[in-house]
Amino acid sequence: METLVIERLGHLGDGIAPGPVFVPGALPGEEIAGEIQDGIVATPKIVTPSPLRVAPPCPHAKRCGGCQLQHAGENFVAEWKVDVVRQALTAQGIDAPFRPILTSPPQSRRRATFSARRTKKAALAGFHVKRSDVIVPVPECLVVHPDLAAALPLVEELAIFGGSRKGELSVLVTRTESGLDVTVRDGKPIDAVSRAELADIARAHDLARLSWGADETLERRPPIVIFGKARVTPPPGAFLQATPEGQAALTDAVLEIAAGAKKGVDLFAGCGTFALPLAKDSAMHAVEGDPAMSAAADRAWRHAQGLRSLTTETRDLFRNPLLAQDLAAYDFAVIDPPRAGAEAQIREIAEARVPVIAHVSCNPVTFARDAATLIEAGYHLDWVQVVDQFRWSTHIELVAAFRLDKNK
Ligand SMILES: C[S@@+](CC[C@H](N)C(=O)[O-])C[C@H]1O[C@@H](n2cnc3c(N)ncnc32)[C@H](O)[C@@H]1O
Repeated sequence: METLVIERLGHLGDGIAPGPVFVPGALPGEEIAGEIQDGIVATPKIVTPSPLRVAPPCPHAKRCGGCQLQHAGENFVAEWKVDVVRQALTAQGIDAPFRPILTSPPQSRRRATFSARRTKKAALAGFHVKRSDVIVPVPECLVVHPDLAAALPLVEELAIFGGSRKGELSVLVTRTESGLDVTVRDGKPIDAVSRAELADIARAHDLARLSWGADETLERRPPIVIFGKARVTPPPGAFLQATPEGQAALTDAVLEIAAGAKKGVDLFAGCGTFALPLAKDSAMHAVEGDPAMSAAADRAWRHAQGLRSLTTETRDLFRNPLLAQDLAAYDFAVIDPPRAGAEAQIREIAEARVPVIAHVSCNPVTFARDAATLIEAGYHLDWVQVVDQFRWSTHIELVAAFRLDKNK
């Protein structure tokens, strides 16, 4: 048994002691005791707890692996998230002003992927136990909207209907304006008889839409999400911001950065989360890799009133970024890439000298790399805003404003 003092929190939420030794569930400053195996103390005893430690507010926190930071005070988590972004920028030699973090309230997640498995007698649905494939039911989850927690019996029913005892179903449930939108993956193949049974389940739970892998989509009502003045029906399983509050915070920031722009481009545009609200004042071009998402944005724009033009383009922006000569036509760009970032696309933006850029990112490291490229090309980083849609988790989201320094 060793005694260690935790120095800092790692990116996955583990406490880190000199070595490094990783200590899940421990906080900076805490003294812990336990056996070290392969650089990890898997079951630490907290000898001296930190004043930052709190009793986990969620009744499922002990077993559920959905949250990593239930044991840490709210202010500590907020400061830690801002600090992770600040440190990533510092590593690139960048100092920037930070706006206060905006954290979504408890029970605001409008989408969650539950795991479900058939058991001997029935089924089990919930999230995975920490570092395990065991499923723990989470009816009182403090992260997801109560409508999602209330959908757990439906998820179990889906596992009984089309799951196997060996395999696990992955069930994405999204709360939309017109009801729940449910997408099931890894289920058994569907046939004509089970199709009718699936329709009965959708009806009994009054679902807006139920999709069974690529085999079947039953749309009883179009699921609707609102982006500015537009009502969008995303394709099954498509990316959406995790909370309505997070979406609003990011959109407000992007609109503020774009103020006065006449012609903008939205790169990695999804279903038009930013392009559609921006189209209220600017002509917009939305570029996205998934054709169904581009089509959803286009359809919503065609049915909306009072928007300027919105054109959409399906394009792989990793392999085939929009080139500097195409980008020169725009006075504003918003870019919101996946975790890998958008190295090639950022270089083209910098070369085109698009005057104003809103960079939305879920990865502080690739964001900081992109920021360095832009600053090197003559941009000024006006401010960074961390938007926390993933309370009690280690996930980090941010938006930043870049402006071309005309003298450079
Ligand atoms: C973080 S999401 C942002 C979407 C949108 N801006 C929003 O806020 O809803 C990243 C988007 O990039 C798209 N994407 C991923 N890889 C891509 C690629 N190589 N080329 C173009 N788009 C891609 C995804 O389909 C997804 O819609």
